[in-house]
Amino acid sequence: MNVLGIDIGGSGIKGAPVDTGSGTLAAERLRIPTPTPSTPDAVAEVARNIIENFSSTPGPVGITFPGVVKSGRVLTAANMDPIWAGFEAATFFSAKLGRPAIVLNDADAAGLAEMRFGAGRGIRGVVILITLGTGIGSALFCEGRLVPNTELGHMEIRGKDAEARASERVREEKDLGWPEWGERVGEVVAKIAFLFNPDLFIIGGGVSRKAEKFLPVVQGMVKVPVVPAQLQNQAGLVGAALVAGESASPA
Ligand code: BGC
Repeated sequence: MNVLGIDIGGSGIKGAPVDTGSGTLAAERLRIPTPTPSTPDAVAEVARNIIENFSSTPGPVGITFPGVVKSGRVLTAANMDPIWAGFEAATFFSAKLGRPAIVLNDADAAGLAEMRFGAGRGIRGVVILITLGTGIGSALFCEGRLVPNTELGHMEIRGKDAEARASERVREEKDLGWPEWGERVGEVVAKIAFLFNPDLFIIGGGVSRKAEKFLPVVQGMVKVPVVPAQLQNQAGLVGAALVAGESASPA
């Protein structure tokens, strides 16, 4: 079954139909820069364009959001317009897009996709996925089940919000070298390892494509295995589509 996934990020909004049986994209994804200001109306307009572009994929749409989302309601929006906090996003998108919309946290969506089709496939115990992008997101799994809405990217490191030191955006803005940035990411991972003792870390986000440049530094700072995500930047889209597909036809 093909289901449309839309991944709302701090810098870009991506969409594609996803074959939910294989976790692959059924068509080339469309990426549109996140509007500024990133208000609900402006974001819904972009989502509408994405849906029109893939009009041959009907049915529910899964949408990720870079903040805490409970029962379709956004609670936090660190890298989006603050008006989102407290916003009933699922109801809003369903009305604006004219089809059922399921909204969930972006890192949770990426984690669900990695656990089903990627680096976490078949792994039991405690798995933590960390996404490195505009912000730092996290998804925590215990025996394959998601504990939703963890916000480990906002852990305090050296008196600062972790994502303000170690996100991919910070690496680009400060033009940090790979080893230096790798150490910053490693500090975050080491603190999480100390507090949660997971069995596996998966590092996601677009930069996971360049894992060889920084993951060895991160791995040198913790004993637990640290592996790159396999679906890279598509994990969010795939996870969103999975959840939307399952909500439409519960197993
Ligand atoms: C948000 C998280 C989100 C992450 C990645 C953080 O700033 O608080 O909810 O998952 O960015 O987008």
